[in-house]
Amino acid sequence: MPQKTAEYDYEASTYEKSRFHSRLGMHLDHMHKKIVADLISSDGKILLDVGVGTGRFATWLVEKGFEVVGVDISREMLKEAKRKTQSLSENVHLVLSDCHFLPFKKEMFDGCICINVVNHIPEIDRFLKEVQYTIEPRGFFIVNFPNLRSLYFPIAIIVNLRKHALLKRRKIRSKWFTPLEIKSLIKSAGFDIKEVKACAITSTIPLGDKLVRIIERMNLLLVDSRLKHFGGSLFISADVYMKR
Ligand SMILES: C[S@@+](CC[C@H](N)C(=O)[O-])C[C@H]1O[C@@H](n2cnc3c(N)ncnc32)[C@H](O)[C@@H]1O
Repeated sequence: MPQKTAEYDYEASTYEKSRFHSRLGMHLDHMHKKIVADLISSDGKILLDVGVGTGRFATWLVEKGFEVVGVDISREMLKEAKRKTQSLSENVHLVLSDCHFLPFKKEMFDGCICINVVNHIPEIDRFLKEVQYTIEPRGFFIVNFPNLRSLYFPIAIIVNLRKHALLKRRKIRSKWFTPLEIKSLIKSAGFDIKEVKACAITSTIPLGDKLVRIIERMNLLLVDSRLKHFGGSLFISADVYMKR
C-alpha cells in the first residue's frame, strides 16, 4: 500500500522549529551531528540522505565538503529543504521519491545517511536492500532508530501497539525497535555493522534549564559508554560486505 505523505507535509513548515530550536532541541541536533560526524567516512564524496526532510543534515554535510542527494516522500518537506539549501544548490540535489523504490543507478553513492526515518517506514528490509544497491562496494551506511530497550520502554510499547507516534496532531506511522531486530535487518541486507553510538533522548519536551543541563551531561557520558545500548536513539554505522 502506498505510504501516506499528508502527515509529513503538514509538519514541514514547523518541523525544525518545533524539534530543534529550544535549548534541548539544539542539544539534540548537536548530538545527532556529533555522532554522525564521528561515524562518517571522510573518503566519501557523494552521499545519499534518505528522508532528507527540511535539509537539516544536507546543509551540514555540504559544509563538510560532501555533495548530497536528498530523497524524501513529502513534497512540502522538500520545498523547505529547497528554500534552505538554495545557496548550496550545486551541491544539493533534491529528489521526490519513496525510499522503498530509490530511483538511482547501482553503486552511485559513496555512502548513505538516514536519520530519524526508519521508524516511519513500513518495509525496512526492502528499503535497506535499495540502499545497499545504490552504494558502492566499500560504501558506508549510517542509520538511527528509537530503541525499545531504553528508558522509553513504556512509551515505546504504547507506540508499537498504536502503530503511530504519541503527542502528534496527525497520525504519523511509528515503530520502536530492539537493537537485535535492527541489526539483524541490516545484516540480512548485506551490511557489516561497524559501530553503535547512542543519544539518551529521542525528542524534545519543554524542560527547565537545570534539567536540560543534566540531560546534556548524561548524553555526553552515554554516547560511547557501556550503557549506550539503553539510549533512547541508537546510531549504527555499517559497511557493505556483500554485493548482490
Ligand atoms: C522525522 S523526519 C527526519 C528528517 C531528517 N532526516 C532529519 O533528521 O531532520 C522524517 C522524514 O522521512 C520522510 N519519509 C517518511 N517516509 C518516507 C519514505 N517512505 N520515503 C522517503 N522519505 C520518507 C518524511 O517525509 C520526513 O521528511
